Amino acid sequence: MTHNPSAEAARPGPGRTAVVIPAAGRGVRLGPGTPKALRPLGGVPMLVHAVRAMARSTDVGPIVVVAPADDVPAVRSLLDGHPLPDRVTLRVVPGGDTRQESVRLGLAAIAGGTGGVAGPHASDAPDDGVDVVLVHDAARPLVPVATVDAVVAAVRAGAPAVVPALPVTDTVKQVAPPADRDPADPEPVVATPERASLRAVQTPQGFDRAVLVAAHEAAVTGADAGDAATDCAGLVERRGVPVVLVRGHEEAFKVTRPLDLLLAEAVLARRSVADGW
Ligand code: CTP
Ligand code: MG
Repeated sequence: MTHNPSAEAARPGPGRTAVVIPAAGRGVRLGPGTPKALRPLGGVPMLVHAVRAMARSTDVGPIVVVAPADDVPAVRSLLDGHPLPDRVTLRVVPGGDTRQESVRLGLAAIAGGTGGVAGPHASDAPDDGVDVVLVHDAARPLVPVATVDAVVAAVRAGAPAVVPALPVTDTVKQVAPPADRDPADPEPVVATPERASLRAVQTPQGFDRAVLVAAHEAAVTGADAGDAATDCAGLVERRGVPVVLVRGHEEAFKVTRPLDLLLAEAVLARRSVADGW
């Protein structure tokens, strides 16, 4: 690992953290309609909320939005209509068939690449001053800046991989694999993990850049290539890199199903009332 906090301290201030925002999903669970990231919340597309939320963190410089392949020009012009602080630069690149692929394409575009497949030297840190990368779901538009800052601070304090998380409130059951049974039958329970030891993870997940790039490269070319991980930290974890959790936030929830849209609208309405005071 190349992490070296003392070397970082000598480098110039803001803008050393880049953000990849995977926004290329369709939003199947939300129901038919425009791609999820482009659906409005309080009259503004979810993606715009997500970009603004990340741009609020003063360490953030480059932001790469990974858009549905057919919507890159539309997303570019949408985002051009919403000004960001001068320290923030924005690229929009086409995504892939899975979240993992979309993130890999976004990572390749941070250094000014075309967003294509990462080359053989992708893990050699490019000389663009970016040493920390956050990966943030467009589908978590309301994450507070304090959560973003806490993730960045933990990476800058020396952790190679940092994930915001909350205790699980529902008891969770593990069920048998679906293979040998009729999906119409009730599902047999095989175990009940102890709830106190479980955490539900959120984004932004923060990484030492070289660690994340190497993990994504290994996920394409390595021995375990093809095994899907549902988050970036999972890819890093399977390579034996320690992953730590910091406290997440209730408002960093993921908009997945229709009810989540109602919750998001309610959070926005409460914020605008609070702003009015
Ligand atoms: N994502 C992506 N590329 C994909 C799939 C997902 O960039 N091929 C992004 C989504 O746009 C979203 C984030 O990954 O911001 C988390 O994924 P999820 O909440 O599952 O969104 P969707 O895949 O769009 O939703 P669904 O699974 O219901 O279709
Ligand atoms: Mg999905």
